[in-house]
Amino acid sequence: MENNKTTVLAIESSCDETAAAVVVNGRQVLSNVISSQIDIHKLYGGVVPEIASRKHIEKINQVIEEALVEAKCTWEDIDAICVTYGPGLVGALLVGVGAAKALAYALKKPLVGVHHIEGHISANYIANPELEPPFLCLVASGGHSHLVIVKDYGEYEILGRTRDDAAGEAFDKVARAIGLGYPGGPKIDKLSKEGNADAIEFPRASIEDAPYDFSFSGVKSAVLNYINGCKMKGIGYSEADIAASFQKAVVDVLTSHTIQAAKDYSIKKIAIAGGVACNSGLRKHMKEECTKRGYQFYLPTPILCTDNAAMIGAAGYYEYKKGVRHDLDLNAVPNLKLGE
Ligand code: KG4
Ligand code: ZN
Repeated sequence: MENNKTTVLAIESSCDETAAAVVVNGRQVLSNVISSQIDIHKLYGGVVPEIASRKHIEKINQVIEEALVEAKCTWEDIDAICVTYGPGLVGALLVGVGAAKALAYALKKPLVGVHHIEGHISANYIANPELEPPFLCLVASGGHSHLVIVKDYGEYEILGRTRDDAAGEAFDKVARAIGLGYPGGPKIDKLSKEGNADAIEFPRASIEDAPYDFSFSGVKSAVLNYINGCKMKGIGYSEADIAASFQKAVVDVLTSHTIQAAKDYSIKKIAIAGGVACNSGLRKHMKEECTKRGYQFYLPTPILCTDNAAMIGAAGYYEYKKGVRHDLDLNAVPNLKLGE
């Protein structure tokens, strides 16, 4: 193998996707296999942790095998095993961490534990080969909403975070309220195309003295109150108008906080990441706002926004290059903080 080529096998199992990927030099994806559990969890209206763990156990070996086959790699080609060890559901994380440790031990390969959010951010390196830190990144997923300065590879300054619900969580809860089911984000996104985004004025929360923090529980409650109000008055309402107006309110807040931070910190490169970065309204509005100001805008393809292992391979590669190695006592850390 050439000296300048580092190939990693990456594993991700923090929530409801069992995923494995083979990534070269943090940027080139040879395979990205994802086994989604959505069809099972949607029967319950959300992710059931115990079921998620069991399904990960059933799928993990098969997904890893497929990732190697698709990449046309043998174990000899793999320089390191990277795995998400937090944050996430503890039982789900443990399946990936256990598999990674077993492989690292049996094959005598270095083990690199990766932060899930660092993975989401690093999806941008795959999609945009020219992107280098520093840049500003908005991470909006089902469990997290962070505004982060990526100072260098693996070096982060968190400017803001959500005080209550994550952006994706708000999408999921509002979708449930208007009867769309789980996962709500893609369904609201689709329905909002048929609605009027200016039909209902839902609140855009900002927090005094913390201009980059988010709060989405207010807009979620406002949607529920609006629906209840209509029901009590016996008047009909348009689900599409609710979806479009709610999505606009969330997108406005995510975009305006990000642009404000870019201005305040004089950063001209902006990226988005996480499941909510799939949202067509956010992708469009953020691009418009960046173009207006001459900022460079970076975004991963939708498949790299939601949970996947290629992003863990991208983040893991830069950790590996820095010399990060984990021992076989690596444990799942459900509330792992960014930068730990
Ligand atoms: O990053 P992700 O796959 O998992 C976590 O780390 O949480 O994000 C999943 C979240 C869910 O809340 C889902 O509803 C949301 O991302 N999502 C979307 C869209 N696609 C996925 N939200 C808004 N619009 C979308 N198109
Ligand atoms: Zn995620």
